[in-house]
Amino acid sequence: MALLEIAHATRRFGDFVAVDGVSLAIEAGEFFTLLGPSGCGKTTLLRMIAGFDLPDAGRILLNGEDLADRPPEARPLRTVFQSYALFPHMTVQGNVAFPLKMAKTPAAEAAAKIEEALADVRLTGFNSRFPHELSGGQRQRVAIARALVTHPTVLLLDEPLAALDAKLREEMQIELINMQKEVGITFVYVTHDQTEALALSHRIAVMNRGKVEQVDAPDRLYGYPKTRFVAGFIGTCNLLVGPVLGRSGETVTIAVPDLGPVQVHSVAGAEHGEGAVAVRPEKVRLAAQGTASAHDNRFSGTIAGFLYQGDVTVYRVKADQGHEIEALLANSSSGLAKFFEVGDRVEMSWPADAGHHVEG
Ligand SMILES: Nc1ncnc2c1ncn2[C@@H]1O[C@H](COP(=O)(O)OP(=O)(O)OP(=O)(O)O)[C@@H](O)[C@H]1O
Ligand SMILES: [Mg+2]
Repeated sequence: MALLEIAHATRRFGDFVAVDGVSLAIEAGEFFTLLGPSGCGKTTLLRMIAGFDLPDAGRILLNGEDLADRPPEARPLRTVFQSYALFPHMTVQGNVAFPLKMAKTPAAEAAAKIEEALADVRLTGFNSRFPHELSGGQRQRVAIARALVTHPTVLLLDEPLAALDAKLREEMQIELINMQKEVGITFVYVTHDQTEALALSHRIAVMNRGKVEQVDAPDRLYGYPKTRFVAGFIGTCNLLVGPVLGRSGETVTIAVPDLGPVQVHSVAGAEHGEGAVAVRPEKVRLAAQGTASAHDNRFSGTIAGFLYQGDVTVYRVKADQGHEIEALLANSSSGLAKFFEVGDRVEMSWPADAGHHVEG
C-alpha cells in the first residue's frame, strides 16, 4: 500500500476545473515532484493534501486512512511555502519552537528536537538570530526546520526555492537532496522548473491543465515522454509531426512536412493517423556536408543561427525543405567555441532509435 494515495481528486472553481481527476500513489521515503506550467493545478493539489482545501470529488488517503475529516493541524503533514512565512519578531529558536509549543511538547524534549531540526538544515548555532539577520537561503532552511521539527510523515514543499537566485538555488537543491536522504521523510515537492524536478526527484508527475500526463522517474520522462506535452515540457526537444506512412518491423516512418520521411524505432506505435517523433537536440549529429553518415535519418541544411553556452553550443539548422531543427554539440573535447558559422552547409543525421515515437 502506498503511503499517500490520491484517488480521482477533483477541484472546481465555478466552471473551471483546476484539478481534474488526479490519481497518484506516493511511497514512503519518496522525493516526489508535481511539475507543470503556471496554473496547471499544482498548488491546488498540494493544498488539498495539506487540508487547506477540500476536493469536490475523489479521496486523499494517508496509510489507507481517508483524510477528509481531518483539519490541517490534525494531519501529520507540514508545508513549506515559497515565501518564508517566518515570524519576523521571533528568533530562529522561537520560529522552530513554535509548532512544538502548539503541541505542548515538554521543554526538555522540545530543546532536543529543535537542535536536531537545526542540525538537519545545517543551522546549528543560529538559534538567537532574527530572520532579517539571515540570507534568503538560510531563512528558507529555518522554514524547513520549523516544518521538520514535529517529525511529520510527509513534507509538502511549494516552490520553496523560487525566491532564491540561481547560484543559491543550486546549492539548496543539493542540500534538499541530502536532507531528504538523511531525515528519510517523504517529500512532495512542487515546481514549474523542469531542471529542478529532474535533479531532485525520485519520481515526477507532469501536470497539464489539471491532469497528470505522465508519472515516471526523471530519466524515463526525459528519454521516453508519452505525450507531446511532456516531450516539449521536459527539456528541449525537436517535435516532428506528420502522417504515419507505415511500419516495417520495429520502425515507423512519419512524413514530416518541410522535412521529409523520418524513421523512428517504435515497438507498439500506431501504423496510421498522425504521429510525432521527439528527437533531443543532443541526439542530432551535425557534420560538414558530404561527410559520410550511415544513419537512418539524413537531411541537409544550412546553419541559421547558434547560441554559445560555454560547455555546449546550440545550433539552429534550417533543412533545405524549410523545417528548423535544433542540434546541440559539446565544446569540451575540442576546446573550440563553435564548429560552424551561420550559412555553413551541414548534414543532420540521427539513427531511428535516437528518436522517440510520441502518440498523445
Ligand atoms: N481560490 C480560487 N478561486 C478561483 N480560481 C482559483 C483559485 N485557486 C486557484 N485557482 C485557479 O486554478 C488554477 C490552478 O491554480 P494553481 O494555483 O493550483 O496553479 P499552479 O500550478 O500552482 O500555478 P503556479 O505555478 O503559477 O503557482 C489557476 O487557473 C488558478 O487561477
Ligand atoms: Mg502554485
